[in-house]
Amino acid sequence: FKSYSKYYDQLYHDKNYNAETDYLVNLITKYRENTKSIIDLGCGTGKHAKLLANRGFEVTGLDLSQEMISIAKQSSDLDFIIGDITNFKLDSTFDVALSIFHVFSYLTDNDVLLNAFSNINRHLVVGGVLIVDVWHTPAVHSQLPEPRVKIVENDTYKIVRKATPAIDSLNNMVDVRYELDVLHKETATHEIIIEDHHIRHFSKPEIELLSKCTGFKVLHSEELITAKKPSEQTWGVCYILQKLFLIAIATYLINIPASFI
Ligand SMILES: C[S@@+](CC[C@H](N)C(=O)[O-])C[C@H]1O[C@@H](n2cnc3c(N)ncnc32)[C@H](O)[C@@H]1O
Repeated sequence: FKSYSKYYDQLYHDKNYNAETDYLVNLITKYRENTKSIIDLGCGTGKHAKLLANRGFEVTGLDLSQEMISIAKQSSDLDFIIGDITNFKLDSTFDVALSIFHVFSYLTDNDVLLNAFSNINRHLVVGGVLIVDVWHTPAVHSQLPEPRVKIVENDTYKIVRKATPAIDSLNNMVDVRYELDVLHKETATHEIIIEDHHIRHFSKPEIELLSKCTGFKVLHSEELITAKKPSEQTWGVCYILQKLFLIAIATYLINIPASFI
């Protein structure tokens, strides 16, 4: 997310962040009662983070994209940090870590994933939870992603975004080429942006294995927002993982990533 970032909020103006935040607060209340502190990993322009802060949580937002973080900071004085999920280091631990809108699907390599899970584990209190949604392998294989065009227009510009997916079935990935044609109405000029996004999808046993290797237990999985049981029709699955006590002690004592235990 580089040049694309400045049009991110307009492109997703139809995404209901309020309803998503209600959904997240329900999960937080159910799986980690008395939560005070939350870190939103891959927070993007910070919409969930800001809404959660309005509900009284202490929220930190972290994202790899400098552009996303600078947009997040424009309308808020919350703690928004540029950082990589796989290796960020903060002095604080959190009750809940969120990573929403398939941020983890951008982590395509196994070692990177193990590092990310271990690193998040280190930043949670014992018993703390990680709420994460990912693309669901059974749905990708049965529905097959198709080229799509999205058009968004306001008084200043018109954006035509083409998304062209290529399936890399051997690696559980979909390579999506996003081509944005932004017509700036005042100057009648076109801005062309092309970004390739490599997006991994996950099956339940993969998430369970990653969790087991990094000191988490999978408490629950469900379709994002509807809470239905995941199926071949479920594109986005939400997993709730809990940081285990014993692995936490072992990693603290010998100071090595849980993935090596
Ligand atoms: C689809 S956006 C979701 C943003 C936000 N959570 C939302 O719901 O609008 C994915 C975000 O993940 C971020 N991201 C991808 N890989 C990351 C990494 N390794 N560390 C931190 N952020 C990452 C991207 O910069 C991008 O902002």
